[in-house]
Amino acid sequence: MTMKFSRNQERRASGARPGSRGKTLWRRLRTRWNSRRIQNKSPLEISKTIHFSRRIPAEFSGFRIAQVSDLHNNLFGDANESLLTELKNTRPDCIVLTGDLVDSRNPNMAVSLDFAGKAAAIAPVYYVPGNHEARMKKTYPELVNGLKARGVQVLHNRKTEISRGKAGIFLIGLADPGFRAGIHVHTVKQMLSKLTSPKDPYEILLVHRPELFQTYAKFPIDLVFSGHAHGGQIRIPGIGGVYVPSQGFFPQYDAGQFSKNNTTMFISRGLGNMSLIPRIHNPPEILVVELRHK
Ligand SMILES: [Fe+2]
Repeated sequence: MTMKFSRNQERRASGARPGSRGKTLWRRLRTRWNSRRIQNKSPLEISKTIHFSRRIPAEFSGFRIAQVSDLHNNLFGDANESLLTELKNTRPDCIVLTGDLVDSRNPNMAVSLDFAGKAAAIAPVYYVPGNHEARMKKTYPELVNGLKARGVQVLHNRKTEISRGKAGIFLIGLADPGFRAGIHVHTVKQMLSKLTSPKDPYEILLVHRPELFQTYAKFPIDLVFSGHAHGGQIRIPGIGGVYVPSQGFFPQYDAGQFSKNNTTMFISRGLGNMSLIPRIHNPPEILVVELRHK
């Protein structure tokens, strides 16, 4: 006698749960989507600024800092050669990578490591992690080791000095507060009181998030390089960025230059995309700041 089974009965007999086929297909599609190479065809914009301060040592007049933020393992040309050529053309004295070098939802680490290694052949590279790296708790050590092996200085809650003649400036790297539970201003304050000193010469903070600027400005920090905001993703001419996840609609800190007390902050609009929302009136940006003693 032949018995007929329904589809669900067959599935139960094989140990598969109802709906598991759909889930497997979804998982496969998601893995495929996440492992795709993200070719970014948007033209790059190079934003150049000269920053004057009496506190900049005379030896550092003309020192050029190029900022690459929020790459989210995007590719500008095969192997990022367009990005690297533009970066080289800015003739930087150092390159700062201010977080989200890797996208946590599409962690193509090889793309980011390859870029960072080639950037280190142009000028010394300094890196601070962003909120996406903070989400990659298991693979973050692999990224850090890969960066170090390629000659990149990883400033995860630490500082370093750059010397020219007898003068020096400090680069301070503050890791994204997402590495600890929650985004606590208290954590940031604790860390900055350890890392900064009023006795130090010119101090530059490299940090991913711009929205804590009021906190940064309470410390003896001269200059801040930040990113994270992607310029608000969609920009309305004359108004600015539309939305930043950690600030909401029409955010205060979306892009450009801000000053408070003795601190100036630059926010790069960054390079990559992390969501399906396109950039509108908001080309990917390499920010270049030239220091001048006045
Ligand atoms: Fe970010």
